[in-house]
Amino acid sequence: MLVDGEAIDSCIYLTMWAKGRSIMTVEGLKGPNGELSLIQKAFIEEAAVQCGFCTPGLIMTAVEIVGTGKRYNREELRKMISGHLCRCTGYENILNAMERIVEETYKVVGTQES
Ligand code: FES
Repeated sequence: MLVDGEAIDSCIYLTMWAKGRSIMTVEGLKGPNGELSLIQKAFIEEAAVQCGFCTPGLIMTAVEIVGTGKRYNREELRKMISGHLCRCTGYENILNAMERIVEETYKVVGTQES
């Protein structure tokens, strides 16, 4: 989840720390009619799927990354998701999805270089 825009491990975050802070979970990414966000669509289209813990965590990390407005390359993205320690599958499809959404967002928003 994101706390004030920063991805954190929700499983080790005490509820009392959240008082007065902005919290966003993967459920908050849906549009008003339940449509998926561009990041969620990118994960589906790139088959960047893992379990019900890993996938939301990686998607919320992607939200944080995209929110920086920086154009990270694949190696930078790999380092940025290094806190996700799943060994069930590979990370290539996840990186494909992240790279894609970073590029798509950068083209639309056209923000600063990293
Ligand atoms: S897919 Fe979640 S622990 Fe491996």
